[in-house]
Amino acid sequence: MALLNILEYPDPRLRRVAAAVVAVTPEIRKLIGDMAETMYAAPGVGLAATQVDVHKRIIVLDISEARDELRVFVNPEIVAAEGEAECEEGCLSVPGYYDRVTRAAAVTVLAKDADGRPFELVAEGLLAVCVQHEIDHLEGKVFVDRLSPLKRARLAARLRKKQRLVG
Ligand code: NI
Repeated sequence: MALLNILEYPDPRLRRVAAAVVAVTPEIRKLIGDMAETMYAAPGVGLAATQVDVHKRIIVLDISEARDELRVFVNPEIVAAEGEAECEEGCLSVPGYYDRVTRAAAVTVLAKDADGRPFELVAEGLLAVCVQHEIDHLEGKVFVDRLSPLKRARLAARLRKKQRLVG
C-alpha cells in the first residue's frame, strides 16, 4: 500500500466531478487500500478519491473511536434525506480550518462495498455528516462552499496570508 498526496483547497482539481466506477477491479481495490491508509495516516475520519486526484466515485470512512471500522462506498448515492442538523466540520483538504455546516440529519445511501456488493445504509449523526461531506467531494464541492460569502472571503484572505508566509 502507499500513502497518497492529498490536494488542498483551493486546488482546482477538487472541483472535478467524479465518474462512476464501472467494476471493482484489483486496481480499484488497491486504490481503496491506499485511500484507507492515507486517511488513517492523516489522520482523518473520511476521504474521497477526488481528494487524492482520482476522479472516481469512491469514499472511505471510519468514525469509530478505535479506528477499526473501515467503511467503503463505491458509487454512493443518497436516495433519501431527512431533517436538518448543524455540525462542526473540518477537511483534510482544508487543513486547520473548522466551521459549522448545516446538512440533512439522516440520509439513506445506496452503494457498493470493496467487493462490489451492493448495500443500503441509513446513517444518522456523525456518520450522516461524513457521508454527505465525502459525497460532496465527488461532486466537486468542498464544505467551505456551504459557508456564507463573508466566511469564505475570510478563509480566502487567510489562505493568501499563509501562502505569503510559506513563500
Ligand atoms: Ni473533506
